[in-house]
Amino acid sequence: MNNTYTDLVHQTFHFPQEDFRVEDNWLQYNGVDVKALIEKYGTPLKLTYLPKIGQQINKAKKMFDTAFKKHHYEGEYFYCYCTKSSHFSFIVEEALKHNIHLETSYAYDIEIINRLYERRKINKDINIICNGFKQRPYVQRIAKLLNSGFKNVIPVLDNKEELDMYRRSVKVPFKLGIRVAAEEEPSFPFYTSRLGIRPRDILEFYVDKIEGYENKFQLKMLHIFLNKGIKDDIYYWSELNKIVNLYCQLKKICPELDSINIGGGFPIKHSLGFEYDYQFMINEIVSTIKKVCKKSKVPVPNIYTEFGSYTVGESMAHIYSVIAEKVQNDREIWYMIDSSFITTLPDTWGIGEKFLMLPINKWDNEYQRVVLGGITCDSHDYYDSEEHINEVFLPKLNGNGDKDPLYVGFFHTGAYQDQISGYGGIKHCLIPSPQHIIVGHDKNGKLVDWVYAKEQSAQSMLKILGYY
Ligand SMILES: Cc1ncc(COP(=O)(O)O)c(C=O)c1O
Repeated sequence: MNNTYTDLVHQTFHFPQEDFRVEDNWLQYNGVDVKALIEKYGTPLKLTYLPKIGQQINKAKKMFDTAFKKHHYEGEYFYCYCTKSSHFSFIVEEALKHNIHLETSYAYDIEIINRLYERRKINKDINIICNGFKQRPYVQRIAKLLNSGFKNVIPVLDNKEELDMYRRSVKVPFKLGIRVAAEEEPSFPFYTSRLGIRPRDILEFYVDKIEGYENKFQLKMLHIFLNKGIKDDIYYWSELNKIVNLYCQLKKICPELDSINIGGGFPIKHSLGFEYDYQFMINEIVSTIKKVCKKSKVPVPNIYTEFGSYTVGESMAHIYSVIAEKVQNDREIWYMIDSSFITTLPDTWGIGEKFLMLPINKWDNEYQRVVLGGITCDSHDYYDSEEHINEVFLPKLNGNGDKDPLYVGFFHTGAYQDQISGYGGIKHCLIPSPQHIIVGHDKNGKLVDWVYAKEQSAQSMLKILGYY
C-alpha cells in the first residue's frame, strides 16, 4: 500500500525530523513515548516537555555569539524571556536556569518577580524590562523594585506622560527605555502601532524631559517590537534600519544610550515543512546594526531580545482522542475530538493560527481528508487547514471494534494559549481545561513525568458560577 499516512508524510516532507519520529506506528515527540503517556493519563492531555526551553535559549545565545564573532561586534547580547507567553512558575524557573533576563507586561508580573526573588531564583542584578501601557499599580510596583535595589529594572516608556510617574515615585537613579512606535505592515488596518512613542517625537522628548537629569534617570534603551515578527522581508529591514538610525542620532546627544531591544517575534515550527534560517537572520540583524552605526561613527549598542513563542512554544503539545466520525454529506467527514479548539487552542479560532498537527498512531492506515470538530456547540469550533496546505489529512479509522481510537497531537502550542483561554475558570459550554502533564528532569537528571494539574472539575466551575 502506498497511500498510508506514513507515505503521505514521506512524500511531502523530510521525515523523521529533529523532534519527531515514528516507532511502530506511534509518534515520538522529542524522544518522549507519547503512547505510554496516553496509556498512563488518558486524553485530552496537555504535555509540557521542559528541556526544550533550555535548548531554545542556548541555541539563540550561541547563534548571537557566532554572529558577533563573525561581524566583530563589540556589544553584548541579553536574552530576555517575555513572561506573558507563559507565566507558569515551572516555565519561568526552567528558563531562569539558563542565565536569562525577564520582560514584564503588567503590574501582576512584578508580583511574580517578587516571588522569584523570595524563592532565590533571581537576584537583584537581573535585567527586567518593563513594557506595556502602565497604570499606577504597575508603576508603583516598578518603583518599589527600583527603590529596593533591583538596579537593572528598565521601565520602557510607552508614552511621554509615563515618565512623570517615575519622577515622583523612584528615589534612586534609574535607567529608562523608550518604545518606538513601529509602522504597521501595509495589510494591517492601522498605519502606526498604538504602542510606543512616535519616532519623530522622540528626539524632542529626550531634549525636553530627559537631558539634564542624568544623575536621576538615564535613557539607556530604544525598544521596538514588530507584530509580524522577525522575517526576511523589506518591511522588517526597513523598520530595523529606522530604529538603528534613530539610535545613532540620539547617541550623539545622549552618550548614556547603549542598547537596542528588538523585542520578540522569532518564529517557530508550525508545520513539518517549516524552513527558517535563524542564523542567517541573526547575522543580518547584527550586520545591519553594525553597518548603520559605523556609517554614523557611533559605538554599536548592546542587543536585547524578548523571545516568547521561541522560548516556550515548542515545549508543549495538546493531545486529543478522535471520539467519533460524522459524515454529514458526500464531501465532509468530521472527526470529533474529546475537547474544544476554541477553549484549548484559542488562537486557532481567534486569529486562524495553524499549529503543527500530526496523528499519534495509525500511521500505517490509509489517509483521508477530514475536518476536526470540537464538542462545544459553536459552529466555529473546528480545525480544517494546515500551515502548508488548506486541508487536513489524517489516517482513516478502523471502525467499530478497534480498541485504540485515533489520537491527534497539536504540537508547539506552549505560547499564549493558556493565557488567552484562561487557565481554569469558566469555559465555553463548560468543557473543562484538560489535565496538564510535565516531562522534565528530576534531581538526578532522569527524565520523569508528573501531573501539574488534573482535569478541571465541575465543582471548580460551579464555585465560580456561584452555586456553592
Ligand atoms: C513587547 C513585546 N515583546 C515580546 C513579545 C513576544 O513576542 P513573541 O512571543 O512573538 O516572541 C511581545 C508579544 O506580544 C511583545 O509585545
